[in-house]
Amino acid sequence: MSNNSGHKKRTSQRVDRIAGIGFARFLKLLHSMSKEGLISLSVGEPDYGTAACICEAAAQAASEGWTKYTPTSGFPELRQAIAANLKKRHGLDYDPDTEILVTVGVSQAMDLSFRALLDPGDEVITPDPHYICYPPNIILSEGVPVRVPTDMSADYALQPDEMEKKITPRTKALLFGNPANPTGALMEKNTLEGMAAIAQKHDLVVIADEIYSAFVYGEATFTSFATLPGMKERTVLLDGFSKRYGMPGWRIGYAAGPADIIDSMLQMAQHTMLCPPNATQWAAVAALDMDDEVDFRTILTHYEQRRTLLYTELNRIGLATAEPKGAFYIFPNVSITGLTAEEFCEKLLLEEKVMVLPGDSFGEQGKNHVRICYATPYAGLQEALQRIESFVNRYRVARPV
Ligand SMILES: Cc1ncc(COP(=O)(O)O)c(C=O)c1O
Repeated sequence: MSNNSGHKKRTSQRVDRIAGIGFARFLKLLHSMSKEGLISLSVGEPDYGTAACICEAAAQAASEGWTKYTPTSGFPELRQAIAANLKKRHGLDYDPDTEILVTVGVSQAMDLSFRALLDPGDEVITPDPHYICYPPNIILSEGVPVRVPTDMSADYALQPDEMEKKITPRTKALLFGNPANPTGALMEKNTLEGMAAIAQKHDLVVIADEIYSAFVYGEATFTSFATLPGMKERTVLLDGFSKRYGMPGWRIGYAAGPADIIDSMLQMAQHTMLCPPNATQWAAVAALDMDDEVDFRTILTHYEQRRTLLYTELNRIGLATAEPKGAFYIFPNVSITGLTAEEFCEKLLLEEKVMVLPGDSFGEQGKNHVRICYATPYAGLQEALQRIESFVNRYRVARPV
């Protein structure tokens, strides 16, 4: 079959299967307009930069000649530091030689997990709404994403009985983020235990994306899935440096899991990536070495204030939202305006110069919702809220009295 350029179709059906997922149209609009006065509450990265001591460690490493290929699984020093960190934070014991793989962000760890685990047609269960990249990662490994709806009434926690209804003989794995993007939901220990029982019963591998595990607010507590009885043997834990250490552009993360799965992922990485970036690995060692928990607690206090401001104000304005317990996102329902999520985002961008993302990009359940990232200074959020309020007041659908 030929296309408009006269060539036969050159790109694969695999790519066709992920076409249209994402914000391409919306980003095109953004690029076409002036950025003056724009408040962007869209990109999911911390507003603080990488600490100077981390940058210095990388610069020093590079100047000392740490610029060659490295072991595919990452330098032993970094794997040891990651193992020690997982022990310190979650009480988990991983063998740095066989159970930890350093990757190019959680993104590569996720890609490798599915490529290592899935045969064509294998199903992966994931909550909806979900991180935008979950389905494409599954699809590109020829798997089938199976979404379990979650909603505001249960604070977007996955309901284990709803999850079990989706299990078929093809179900291979369960994938979830905790705390979650885009809702900020935190799955409590009892919910995780329900999921663990199902994983055990149906012999599922669990991919636990814990990249936001450090961002938990109020009285809520985080439980790492692999700490639950019997789960370490079937869990691939994904975490990284992009969020906690303000290092999204350094592209570094890791997978920790059973040796057979980590080894399969390593084999894929050997042929597709060769190794994670060299100097970046030394930056990551420095990040774990110099981990300043006191400073991070101050950051968390600021993030919690921002979260509370948005939660209170959005609900007052009429955009109903659940209280996020973690990450740095909030996911209000915009139905009160009578606009679809996409219309809401487009008009808000054009009329008020505030950028938020349409919720339906994060799954069916995100219909009529938008994702707001609050990794922005407090004053910027206050200004954005004023603009959102006048926007909502303009579009508010008259309610019957
Ligand atoms: C839930 C979730 N997982 C993974 C990633 C990707 O992380 P990394 O920068 O480590 O590739 C993101 C980035 O926003 C995310 O929100």
